[in-house]
Amino acid sequence: MLDSIKNLIAEANEFKANSSSELEEFRIRHFSKKGSLAQLFNDFKDVPNEKKKEVGQALNELKQAIQAKIDSLKDAFSGQETVTLNKDLSLPAESSMNGSRHPISIVRGEILDIFSRLGFTVSEGPEIEDDWHVFTSLNFPPEHPARDMQDTFFIEKNPDILLRTHTSSIQVRVMENTKPPIRTISPGRVFRNEAISARAHCIFHQVEGLYIDENVSFADLKQTLLYFAKEMFGESTQIRLRPSYFPFTEPSAEMDVSCALCGGKGCNVCKYTGWLEVLGCGMVDPAVLENNNIDSKKYTGFAFGMGIERLTMLKFQIRDLRLYFENDARFLRQFSGSF
Ligand code: PHE
Repeated sequence: MLDSIKNLIAEANEFKANSSSELEEFRIRHFSKKGSLAQLFNDFKDVPNEKKKEVGQALNELKQAIQAKIDSLKDAFSGQETVTLNKDLSLPAESSMNGSRHPISIVRGEILDIFSRLGFTVSEGPEIEDDWHVFTSLNFPPEHPARDMQDTFFIEKNPDILLRTHTSSIQVRVMENTKPPIRTISPGRVFRNEAISARAHCIFHQVEGLYIDENVSFADLKQTLLYFAKEMFGESTQIRLRPSYFPFTEPSAEMDVSCALCGGKGCNVCKYTGWLEVLGCGMVDPAVLENNNIDSKKYTGFAFGMGIERLTMLKFQIRDLRLYFENDARFLRQFSGSF
């Protein structure tokens, strides 16, 4: 009997299993009610007393060897356990929820795409700025209302450090570091101290464009913006330019596009005017060029700036600007598949 126990110990130590079911067979072969151990313990009764000690020790050794083998192999197969599914496998698969781009990102991407086809590069800059890049170099007189505490979030006073109120500050940084010709587009987040409502927010996004070269004219500006409007709102879109004022452009204009919803006939989105205001633009004021060491006798340029929230509202007919910032999944989900 001692010999057969020793054989079984050797067999257990050498045992290898290729699957969890082979291991289970091994366990049953030895540990079940009719398994080898049960059989041996049964035979143990008939072992003569003087041999009991030796045989008993061998039996215990066998038991431990089998258990050790099971324990060491169990880990290797734990990942392959067969799971019983409480599911009807003939049911259609659950569709996985894909995320979607935020509408602001969609429209931002589209604007950048359109201008990159005209050779504009993309430039970015800091959100926390100094007075020079946001106001002074852009020809804002010291008493200009946009510098007032009501519009600007100041971080420090004297010298002024503030959150940029427009992305024109990026263009100042480009002019500082690049020699003309310059053809760049600057997207970014801007901050103004305004009460939050359906039509205004203290944080919003802009894209501004700047083109500086020899002989750049207002006709170039108009043609560029017409191309943009048609690409953005459709081939039949028309534009009109109304005289306006910005400290950094002269002459300045505001651009309207014909209302894509009613085709210019008049509806409640365009407030029955047939036109929608979309951006500000103009010829870069020579003083701004000189402030940035660009020879205003040799070079001229145009600039334009638009609010992405506003364009997105028009494109997707969103009536409340606050929806952009609330992260309501029911709102955001509507844009999956838009791009
Ligand atoms: N910076 C202006 C604004 O924030 C927009 C603008 C840019 C107007 C460039 C003209 C030229 O409203």
